[in-house]
Amino acid sequence: MKIYHSTALAAASLLALAACGKQEAPASEPAATPPATEAPAAETPAETPAETAPAAAETDTAATPAAAPASDTSTAIADATSPFADLPAPYNTADYNRGRRTFKLCQSCHILTEGGGNLVGPNLYGLFGREAGSLEGFAYSPALQEADFIWTPDKVDHWLENPNTFLAGNRMTFAGVRKPEDRVAVIAYLMSETGYDASKMPADE
Ligand code: HEC
Repeated sequence: MKIYHSTALAAASLLALAACGKQEAPASEPAATPPATEAPAAETPAETPAETAPAAAETDTAATPAAAPASDTSTAIADATSPFADLPAPYNTADYNRGRRTFKLCQSCHILTEGGGNLVGPNLYGLFGREAGSLEGFAYSPALQEADFIWTPDKVDHWLENPNTFLAGNRMTFAGVRKPEDRVAVIAYLMSETGYDASKMPADE
């Protein structure tokens, strides 16, 4: 009975406290302190956590981007291991795989190896520094036979841009290589495969 009684009392006092907390506390607590401080005293605890939370969040987010490294500046420049590395600019920075791939457009008609013979088109070994239409044993069109210039990377670039307008009447049945980066790459490939020698280039080119 005692136990029950005290429990009941405790429960009753809890209820009373709960009731006080909800309804009576505001009324009774101000009584302990001057009425003027009531409102600030109640607001302060509520504001403090609200202010510290954003501050902590800002610190975290500020630290995250600061920790991310900002490197990775230069990679796609001249690569010393590229087969094109020793060529003059802009061919030294051309993409080797692009050059080899683009040459597939030519390989049904042209062989690049020295002494490899001719196909529909002339063998291109030693092309750079060679007079246009001058390879012995190849039956050039009159247009190429009569052409009076030496093949340089720049001349090949114009030839491949549009073979028909570069030299009207030639017999190379080929539409050309439209993309400039493909031309630079295939010319670099030709240079590296056909024995390009800068000292054989005409001085005025
Ligand atoms: C369908 C066959 C064919 C294709 C494809 C072709 N060519 Fe030719 N090429 C020829 C013929 C034929 C000639 C000779 C044209 C003439 O006598 O008028 C020639 C001539 C040339 C010449 C002049 C050579 C010299 O000795 O004066 C160059 C340079 C050349 N081709 C480069 C290329 C390149 C580079 C490609 C690929 C991007 C290519 N050709 C694709 C058939 C072809």
